[in-house]
Amino acid sequence: MINALRGMKDLTFEESQRFVHIITTAVSIAKRYGYGYIETPILEETALFKRSVGESSDIVGKEMYQFEDKGGNDVCMRPEGTAGVVRAFISAKLDRQPQKFKFYYYGPMFRYERPQKGRLRQFHQFGCESFAEASVYEDFTMISMIKDIFDALGIGYTLQINSLGCPECMPPYRENLVSFLTDIKEELCEDCNRRISTNPIRVLDCKNERCQSLLSSSPKLIHNLCESCDTDFAKLKALLDQADIAYEVDTNLVRGLDYYSKSAFEFVSSEIGAQSAIAGGGRYDRLVEFLDGRATPAVGFAIGIERIMGLVKLPEIGREGIYLGAMIPEAIDTLFPIAQQKRKEQKVTVEYNKKSLKAHLKGADKAGAKIAAVIGEDELKNGTIWIKDLESKEEQTLPLEAF
Ligand code: HAM
Repeated sequence: MINALRGMKDLTFEESQRFVHIITTAVSIAKRYGYGYIETPILEETALFKRSVGESSDIVGKEMYQFEDKGGNDVCMRPEGTAGVVRAFISAKLDRQPQKFKFYYYGPMFRYERPQKGRLRQFHQFGCESFAEASVYEDFTMISMIKDIFDALGIGYTLQINSLGCPECMPPYRENLVSFLTDIKEELCEDCNRRISTNPIRVLDCKNERCQSLLSSSPKLIHNLCESCDTDFAKLKALLDQADIAYEVDTNLVRGLDYYSKSAFEFVSSEIGAQSAIAGGGRYDRLVEFLDGRATPAVGFAIGIERIMGLVKLPEIGREGIYLGAMIPEAIDTLFPIAQQKRKEQKVTVEYNKKSLKAHLKGADKAGAKIAAVIGEDELKNGTIWIKDLESKEEQTLPLEAF
């Protein structure tokens, strides 16, 4: 027997219903915020992710589904959606247009991580990317959109925010941090030691308890922001306060992708175990330029669909449609055209196999039908059909033309 690969899942029955419910809810809210759908390829040149997500990130350094295709190209299954959307934005020369562009997307992402609860190798994201809007109101709007989606799905969360500074305030802070980290180097874990030279900001995010306690006295970027970043961060907090959206400022929130500047945020759930991030995002004002487009400010987010699947309350779906059953094989030719006709307006389930009335009613119940309609020997002879309304329990026999 051939099984699905480790860390990759089939979605069926209730899970697939949850998946569809999440996507339709998120899409309808994104449309209300003026977002249009974008679809980009799953496979991209590896260089795209190296240059955007960053060579020193775990995603690029350890987790890429990377291979050489038959033409000898170095390609990669996308580990996230932003890089591809930015590439598409530049390819279509939208960076040269005066308008603002807002895109939503959803689809599979691939990260070769160690699978565990809430961590898959193929998972799905719903994401939004907003281009050419530099105002911090847009950062707030992103958070507000995620809040609307989670509220509509009945999901509880905690919001964490931070500012990652800009090219003016980040480099002097980084220098400051590196000198602090170098002094405590011997006591930090192996990963942190490697990161001091490759990506010192990621040290703040280390999950090792000993490192975290040593880092409690590290310099914080939030206290070293330039005037513009400081003003924007204060405005973001004020907007969240005004909208009554609760948040925590987490000075260690650095995100696992290198393209962020200024606002960064994560939504976490306390109900799903260690992999608690259910959405993440932030501003990435330099990425378009970095991928050879015209400098364009941008901000976005992505929600992890599998992480919220168990938290969603599915709306009650009432009985709908018709179940058609043949009690004798000869009735099938009469039932079949009825099914084809009725399908033009409603859900129809057909059972061709000969079954007792009791078994047909059980089948209709299982199919969630409102009406069970059965043709047996008597009905076939008389040109009628026996019907039961499974809600009102009313039963009747009708001439076929009247059904
Ligand atoms: P991210 O934080 O890497 O951000 O991923 C977003 C969400 O995807 C996470 O919060 C989590 O719910 C889910 N996720 C990540 N890895 C896995 C996994 N292995 N298994 C299951 N779920 C996972 C990004 O990807 C950015 N592109 C978000 C963004 C958009 N920033 C700006 N625009």
